[in-house]
Amino acid sequence: GAPAGRRVHLVTYGCQMNELDAELVLGDLLRRGYRRAAGLEDADVLLVQTCSVREHAEAKVWSLLGRARQMKRERPDLKIGVLGCMAQRAKDEIVRRAPHVDLVLGTATFRAAVEDLETVTEAGGRITRVGRGAAVDVLPDADRNVQSRPDPFRAHVTVMRGCDHHCTYCIVPATRGKEVSRPLGEVLDEVRRLVADGVREVTFLGQNINTYGKDRGEGGLCALLEQACAVEGLHRVRFLTSNPFDMTEDMMRRFGRLPKVMPWLHIPAQSGSDRVLAAMRRAYTVDGYREVVGWARQHIPGVEITSDFIVGFPGETEADFEATCRLVEEIGFLQCYVFKYSVRPRTVAARHLPDDVPEAEKQRRNVALLACQDRVAQGRNARLLGREVEILVEGPSKSDPTRVTGRDHHNRLVHCPGPSTLAGRLARAVIEEVARHSLLGRIVAHE
Ligand code: 5AD
Ligand code: SF4
Repeated sequence: GAPAGRRVHLVTYGCQMNELDAELVLGDLLRRGYRRAAGLEDADVLLVQTCSVREHAEAKVWSLLGRARQMKRERPDLKIGVLGCMAQRAKDEIVRRAPHVDLVLGTATFRAAVEDLETVTEAGGRITRVGRGAAVDVLPDADRNVQSRPDPFRAHVTVMRGCDHHCTYCIVPATRGKEVSRPLGEVLDEVRRLVADGVREVTFLGQNINTYGKDRGEGGLCALLEQACAVEGLHRVRFLTSNPFDMTEDMMRRFGRLPKVMPWLHIPAQSGSDRVLAAMRRAYTVDGYREVVGWARQHIPGVEITSDFIVGFPGETEADFEATCRLVEEIGFLQCYVFKYSVRPRTVAARHLPDDVPEAEKQRRNVALLACQDRVAQGRNARLLGREVEILVEGPSKSDPTRVTGRDHHNRLVHCPGPSTLAGRLARAVIEEVARHSLLGRIVAHE
């Protein structure tokens, strides 16, 4: 039929879950006989997996849709689909501003993309579906097509979608809805299938992963990790993202007892000021955050923490910002993502809190906090000099084919001289040089 050989160009913005969602759709398409296009110029189908978390991410989609409109003038049979968070949030606006879009599928309906694409290709017209509720389509991840996995040895697995928190700045509860967990057995089946296909490291994804399973009344995150660790052939397990509010000391104790669970936690703090945290409705204080990190350090040997911060939140003063810088230094994060506050439509902050920090000031705080984090990270990495780390080798280094690249327990990139035949193996490397964004090592042992 129509699909045979049609070429798809897929563009993805946003978080790892979005990347995985895109990969799942691509898997469906390839299974049905579509092929990958070399680029937009050469595509019969353009699919955009969108993100709404900041305005900037949406601006990029609008500009891509602008380019696609030009293309479609020359090639009227080009089909264009907008999928994910922005489709969910702004369906009507997309249809109005971009009438050349054929398909608008939200966060719970994107898995039907292939059938919908075929319908608009054969019958014409436009399909927009952003339904929710009982229709939440979290199950079909399990049938993912291994052909479309970008990395042969590592995979992401979505275990829950949505978020029940009410942070005042955040669009996620509006785009991804309430927390919905996948059944434990189904997740484990997917892990086993991935491992049988060569995967050695799995990262579980959820917007608020510490409450995994709560909505189903079955085993939670710890049970999931324990059972995943029992899967033979799987060597490393990670998970994202932790809200400090939902982390307990007992959880940390259980993580710490699982050697396959990497000592690496992403725990967004967002701010180092109690006043700002309260305005964000993060439901914890700076001391509460410190306590969580303390439990992690006590119970998980060698743990490293990464974080997210928002600068320029409404009402954030210079003193609030300085408190954030001090927290970054005090905790000693391995890595921090820093974002300038961006007003999101229909959030509590958009309705009630004036966006009163000037853009130039947001920019200054952004740069200053990143510089502070850079110093902190350099200090932590410097301690690795001369030490031995375990890496999972990914393959040849992109910049130097006589080297291989791997990742250590803390997800740091390590480059070492060595043959590409080491790909997929665990190795031990002595760190000989600490560069800004990577480490150089020498392999002393490998599988
Ligand atoms: N403006 C800026 N950053 C935001 N984030 C979430 N919402 C916003 C917003 N409105 C950041 C938070 C979150 C990360 C994924 O994105 O730091 O942890
Ligand atoms: Fe957004 Fe994270 Fe808060 Fe959920 S926990 S509302 S995803 S910032």
